[in-house]
Amino acid sequence: MNKKKWKFTPLQIAAHLGSLIPLALMLWDIANGNLGIDPIRNFTLRTGKTALVLLLLSLACTPVNTLFKFKQVLKLRRPFGVYSFLYASIHFAIFIGLDYAFSWALIQDALLEKRYAIVGLITGLILLALAITSTIGWQRRLKKNWKKLHKLAYLSGLLAVIHYIWLVKQGVLDPWYFAAILLILLSLRLPAIKKAIASLRAKKMQKTAR
Ligand code: HEM
Repeated sequence: MNKKKWKFTPLQIAAHLGSLIPLALMLWDIANGNLGIDPIRNFTLRTGKTALVLLLLSLACTPVNTLFKFKQVLKLRRPFGVYSFLYASIHFAIFIGLDYAFSWALIQDALLEKRYAIVGLITGLILLALAITSTIGWQRRLKKNWKKLHKLAYLSGLLAVIHYIWLVKQGVLDPWYFAAILLILLSLRLPAIKKAIASLRAKKMQKTAR
């Protein structure tokens, strides 16, 4: 029988464990009754923040390889992306199940009236499409279109940051830090910047070879 070998590098194991820690901490807090004064808001914020952080980590993998020629990190794009989707799903489930108690009319109103909710929903739908098509099977099926589709990850990052900016009070800087990180990650994708990095690396190699 052709047994598939599961080989995980220490980096992959660390990424999986690290991604699951926020979930474990939430379950721990639930089990111990550490729910705070507004448990629904507490878990909404925690799942939303974790989804965003993991999405940015997933988007950071390619630029990290561009900068440091560290190929191993490319294998982390998928797990970080899928975990981001997991936390976004819990975030959404808390919103519809706990915040709005499955009151569909109210949910519909909230989703249509609050601009941050519409943007959040679009982000969630993009993450859903990316998570479903993240397998090798879908990569083969979609061929060239797979890469095009997965470029939407950047759009989802941008929309998630907009969602965050729109829901905080004016003057709160936190979402802008995420916006700055996203901007840096996007700029490292630009062909001109990539070329400059490659030529810097070539010069450095020449120097060390001398
Ligand atoms: C239909 C989809 C979504 C809805 C309805 C929604 C709704 C919410 C709500 C109600 C809050 C809390 C607002 C507050 O009480 O201050 C929130 C916060 C947040 N959400 Fe979402 N969200 C959605 C999707 C997403 C997605 C897909 C992401 C990221 C990938 C995300 C990231 C965040 C972040 C980062 C926060 C702020 C966390 C903080 O302040 O620490 N949300 N969202």
